[in-house]
Amino acid sequence: MKVPNHIAIILDGNGRWAKARGMPRSYGHVKGCANLETICDDMKELGVKYLTVYAFSTENWKRSREEIEGLMRLFRNYLKKCIKISEKNKMKVKIIGDIRAFDEDIQRRIVELEEFSKDYDELHFYIALNYGSRDEIVRGMRRFGQDVKEGIRTPEELDERLFADYLDTAGAPDPDLMIRTSGELRLSNFLLWQLAYTEFYFTEVAWPDFNRAELIRAIETYNNRDRRYGGVKEE
Ligand code: IPE
Ligand code: IPE
Ligand code: MG
Repeated sequence: MKVPNHIAIILDGNGRWAKARGMPRSYGHVKGCANLETICDDMKELGVKYLTVYAFSTENWKRSREEIEGLMRLFRNYLKKCIKISEKNKMKVKIIGDIRAFDEDIQRRIVELEEFSKDYDELHFYIALNYGSRDEIVRGMRRFGQDVKEGIRTPEELDERLFADYLDTAGAPDPDLMIRTSGELRLSNFLLWQLAYTEFYFTEVAWPDFNRAELIRAIETYNNRDRRYGGVKEE
């Protein structure tokens, strides 16, 4: 089994998972968050080098105040805990998305975590928080425009490579495999540029139930695909 270099996951279905158990949505988020730790261990053990997860979108602010508050509490705890996880897995953590929307203390925890883990390279872990692909592209192009204005760049210089350098994922290879849990067949504004040639895998399994066996199933399916670019079979 060839393991993809970069796996991206849309962590979906926490709310439905909880509801099916007669529990509040927030309970699903707690379970989903715990599962993130487990899956990082699995990725590390399987030899995946890059993992990107979609944890909170630019659209998710529209949820109820109660749910948002619960999620913010969870982020606070997780960002702190993640320092230990990064140490254990020798993983470098980076948050993608516009973090300026979060409370100061959350932003500080993000900076601390990124700073603490910056020299690890066994697993590169990207967490998308207040992330939207369109927003990422617009923010990047604003910076490019500013660089042109300041004479650092010229419009003629802009090509696909340079464009990618202005995205939050600058420096990361494009994902080889994108997994979305819990049955929805859409991207929900996730990595629109980066997923241009990525293989997609959709499963009915909700995120809190997505485990190592499910991950291996996804990787096996990926192995059986005929990839036109970045081929699997011929290697
Ligand atoms: C994914 O689970 C986690 C976040 C978006 C924060 P959902 O909260 O979207 O769960 P469902 O899709 O409503 O079941
Ligand atoms: C996508 O899931 C975003 C995350 C998993 C963080 P959503 O549940 O928010 O997406 P939609 O609303 O079903 O498209
Ligand atoms: Mg959802």
